[in-house]
Amino acid sequence: MKWLVLFHVLGATVWAGGHLILSIGFLPAALRTKNLSIIQHFEKHYERVGIPALLVQVVTGFWMALIYVPFSYWFSLATHHHVLLWIKIGLLLGTIGLAVHARLFIIPKLTTEKLSLLALHIILATVLAVSFVVTGLSFRFVYP
Ligand code: HEM
Repeated sequence: MKWLVLFHVLGATVWAGGHLILSIGFLPAALRTKNLSIIQHFEKHYERVGIPALLVQVVTGFWMALIYVPFSYWFSLATHHHVLLWIKIGLLLGTIGLAVHARLFIIPKLTTEKLSLLALHIILATVLAVSFVVTGLSFRFVYP
C-alpha cells in the first residue's frame, strides 16, 4: 500500500500542481493579452506528463479503493469510505467529460473568441483536481 500511496501522491503533484500553475501562472496573462499561444505552449509540454499522471491516478486510486472497500461492497454508501470513493469516481467522470468536451468542441477550432470558454474549462478542471486532493486526504485524515 505504501508504494501505491507514493505513486498516487507523485501523480497528484503533477495533475493538481500542473493545473494550478496553468490557472494561476499562465491563464491570467493569456486572458489579458488575448494570446492563445501562451496556453497552447504550456499544454504542449504539460500533456506529455499530465496524461500519464492521470493514468497513474486512476490505476493506483482504484487499487487503493479496493483495499479500503472490497468491490462487492462498492454499490452502497454505507461508510464514509464509500462516500469518498463515489466522490472520487464523480470527480473522475467530471474530469473526463471536460477533457472530451474540450477535445471535440473547443480545441479543434480554437480562436481568440473561444478564450473565455477555454478559461472556464481550465478553471473547472483545476477545481476538480484540487477536490481530488481534498477527497483523497479525507480517506486517511478525516475518516481513518
Ligand atoms: C487526478 C486524480 C487524482 C488526484 C489528484 C488524487 C489525489 C489524492 C491525494 C493527494 C491523496 C492523499 C494521499 C495520502 O493519503 O497521502 C489521495 C488518496 C486517495 N485517492 Fe486519489 N487522487 C486522484 C484520483 C483518484 C481516483 C480516480 C481514485 C479511485 C477511486 C482515488 C482513490 C484514492 C484513495 C482510495 C486514496 C486514499 C489513499 C490513502 O491515503 O490511504 N484517487 N488521492
